Amino acid sequence: MTRELDGRTAFVTGSGRGLGRVMAARLAELGADVAIHDIDWTAPAKYGEFSDLGAVAKEIGKHGTRVMAVTGNIGDKAAVAEMKQAIDAGLGEVHILVNCAGGDIGASGGKPNPNNALDIAFEDIQVLTNNNLIGTILVCQAFIPPMVKAGSGSVINIASAAAHMGCSPEVVYSTLKAAVVHYTRCLAKELLHEGVRINAVSPGATKTARFQATRVVDPARMDSSIRSLARYGEPEEIADAVAFLAGPRARFINGQVLRVDGGVTLFPG
Ligand SMILES: NC(=O)c1ccc[n+]([C@@H]2O[C@H](COP(=O)([O-])OP(=O)(O)OC[C@H]3O[C@@H](n4cnc5c(N)ncnc54)[C@H](O)[C@@H]3O)[C@@H](O)[C@H]2O)c1
Repeated sequence: MTRELDGRTAFVTGSGRGLGRVMAARLAELGADVAIHDIDWTAPAKYGEFSDLGAVAKEIGKHGTRVMAVTGNIGDKAAVAEMKQAIDAGLGEVHILVNCAGGDIGASGGKPNPNNALDIAFEDIQVLTNNNLIGTILVCQAFIPPMVKAGSGSVINIASAAAHMGCSPEVVYSTLKAAVVHYTRCLAKELLHEGVRINAVSPGATKTARFQATRVVDPARMDSSIRSLARYGEPEEIADAVAFLAGPRARFINGQVLRVDGGVTLFPG
């Protein structure tokens, strides 16, 4: 059976757990070979999803495509270069890049506290900027040039509903995700004539293990079988949007941001 991503190779950053893991699985299910990634080998265990990256690779490998795992900090240029080399050697050229690594995780490994505009610590600002903006830019700089050379490719940057509205707390995180959206548009402009599409997906609050472990959740929004769309998203609902943008059905969609949030951000911009 032909699947729409047969013959394609994807790299999904931050795919040891959470949304990235489900995105990587969805791309593999559609036929793509996949390089999964996390900051270290045991990051998948942090909120109890899988024991390590090897276990995640094994699970995703059940879809019958090639899967390999790399580790490294996306905010470190040398680490990104090493990961690129390893993926080139293991799977060959990447056609689909999903920049999913990131989040509102500060220097101490949890949510910054304080996390408002005027009081957030400098160390937290630096870590958030590395994880959400600098990392996305460095990975694009490493992986897009071969796509330009080949004249095709699809890049999906994961932003957030928080990128589109004023937020406090989570001020710096929201600001950086807004920057990811704008970087997406600028990159699409820069590559308009190169055959490489750059889009962003902005998830609303979605039920990943990390999400549930690091905030007080509203039980009324947990049930996805209810009629109301004012609920939390399922990771698969975000992954479906990413898979669509990655594949041929989105071939004329470029420089856009797809807000997958049930309608939380019902305003232009
Ligand atoms: N879950 C949500 O509600 C939600 C909503 C909007 C946006 N997002 C975004 O979706 C993405 C995934 O979120 P999640 O909920 O799955 O969280 P998560 O913490 O489970 O996954 C994020 C992954 O990124 C990795 N990572 C972070 N910084 C890194 C770095 N510098 N180098 C390498 N790896 C790094 C983490 O180790 C982790 O595996 C994030 O970018 C987050 O901001 C999530």
